Amino acid sequence: MRMPILPFSVFLLTWPSVSTFVTVAARADDSPRVELGERLFKEGRFSQPHFANASPRGVRGPQLWSCATCHHLPEQKRGYADSESRSPVPARREDQQQITLRNSPSMIDLFFNESSERPNLLHYDGEFASPEDLVRAGLTGRNLGWLAHEKSIVVAHIATVVRREFADDEETFGLSLLLASDSQILDAVADLISDYMRSLEFEKDDEGQFSGSPYDRFLARNRLPQRPNPGETGAAYTLRLLESVERLSNPEWVDEGRMRRHEQDFRFGPTELQGMKIFLKSGPRGSIRDFAHLRGIGNCASCHTPPAFTDFTFRNTGVSQEEYDAIHGRGGFLRMAIPSLVERLQMDSSRLADFAALPSYQNTRAVDLGAWNQLQPGVRGPLFGWICQVVPGCSSAPSEQAVQDAAIAAFKTPTVRNLGHSAPYLHNGSRPTIESATLFYAIMSNLARDGRMRNADPEMLKVFLDGRDVGPLAAFMRALNEEYE
Ligand code: HEC
Ligand code: HEC
Repeated sequence: MRMPILPFSVFLLTWPSVSTFVTVAARADDSPRVELGERLFKEGRFSQPHFANASPRGVRGPQLWSCATCHHLPEQKRGYADSESRSPVPARREDQQQITLRNSPSMIDLFFNESSERPNLLHYDGEFASPEDLVRAGLTGRNLGWLAHEKSIVVAHIATVVRREFADDEETFGLSLLLASDSQILDAVADLISDYMRSLEFEKDDEGQFSGSPYDRFLARNRLPQRPNPGETGAAYTLRLLESVERLSNPEWVDEGRMRRHEQDFRFGPTELQGMKIFLKSGPRGSIRDFAHLRGIGNCASCHTPPAFTDFTFRNTGVSQEEYDAIHGRGGFLRMAIPSLVERLQMDSSRLADFAALPSYQNTRAVDLGAWNQLQPGVRGPLFGWICQVVPGCSSAPSEQAVQDAAIAAFKTPTVRNLGHSAPYLHNGSRPTIESATLFYAIMSNLARDGRMRNADPEMLKVFLDGRDVGPLAAFMRALNEEYE
């Protein structure tokens, strides 16, 4: 049983003498369940290295491995991400795997505006439709050192640790730890960690509008629309916001001194405003020759849609192609054979595994096709629905092959709020800075217009940037950083 999510409370402390705001975003919910969920999130004794060390066949290396090993808490100035391109995993002789397939993402506001018909999916490839499923798989999976055939060992081990170490928390668990079965205990742990994850939100005001970043403060001060009207689409809101910001004749800037959790000032000035306009502006679709003169158009908001700065769907921006080609030569990804639905059904699982693999010099078939891997032929689940939404004509006449093709190298759009705490960027962690992640779009959008990007998202064709746009865009995105506890 899950607790209802309590309304979000925000404490705004103001120092009247100086015109400085200090904002403290409370966690959405400080209930005992959330507090226990956080302890379980940090619990290292569930991991395989701890289990193996406790038994006679010891292992080397750190013994305690928890969710927080790869998702650092804000005290460490990380928004639940770590600082690795790809996180280390516990070593196992059996498979030699050393690192995760992808970069560990931030975890704040993952469930914003979620509906029961269309849950927000988790992981870059949309593998999980609920946090409970993710936690069950995570605790018993490779990230904590467990191999696929060890499921029954790990479920029993987790239950043993809970019965021994969390006896005092029985009431919060909501079940008798002695009478409950091992898998009931795992489910209870998954529910608690999920409550904790649902409680991680950016600061919101009493009306539920984002209010914690310099950008949010700027919108409020200048009476700019802070969120879509009921029924208004993200695209229509973006346009309305752009039009109102372009009409601002005498903007009131935000400048409130150093931030505590970010190495920057809490400010929104002319450079940030310039970046905001580039971020929101969308360009025409056309060939590289017709539009060589265009710049200053990011079209970023078509996918990083305000106010959450993500559309929660899956798009191909060319990250996998870039990494594959860097290893196997330009054009390699374009030429690579990717099975159709029918071919896919006939492929064995070891061959299919190559499509969710780290690219390597040894194996030309190893590549990360993202969401493509999670679509099952014949299954029209939530992931199918999310992708269908961005395939032209799909909502009226859904075509399974069209959705499958659009999912090639498509990854979940991450929010660009609070990037200051989640470097490096992109699913492969290939960009160390916000500037380098932004420059990526200047290059990839030209490749897309030139017809040299496989399965380019149509929105990539409407991005027109040059080097001069990078600074203002990065300044704008830094104005989406915020303080939170
Ligand atoms: C060894 C490192 C590691 C550990 C341990 C780990 N994670 Fe992750 N986590 C990752 C990586 C890498 C991803 C991205 C995976 C992907 O997208 O395929 C991720 C993704 C996620 C996401 C998805 C966020 C999004 O935007 O969709 C959530 C939520 C999450 N992890 C929660 C947890 C929880 C809860 C635990 C503990 C049970 C945990 N993680 C343990 C590395 C780790
Ligand atoms: C077609 C949709 C789309 C457009 C247009 C787009 N993005 Fe993205 N963005 C994504 C997706 C999807 C990812 C993750 C891609 C991946 O890792 O494979 C991403 C990742 C990012 C990241 C890294 C975030 C992180 O946490 O790792 C940044 C920064 C970013 N985009 C900025 C921008 C900027 C700036 C623009 C405009 C110039 C822009 N994006 C335009 C879809 C888009």
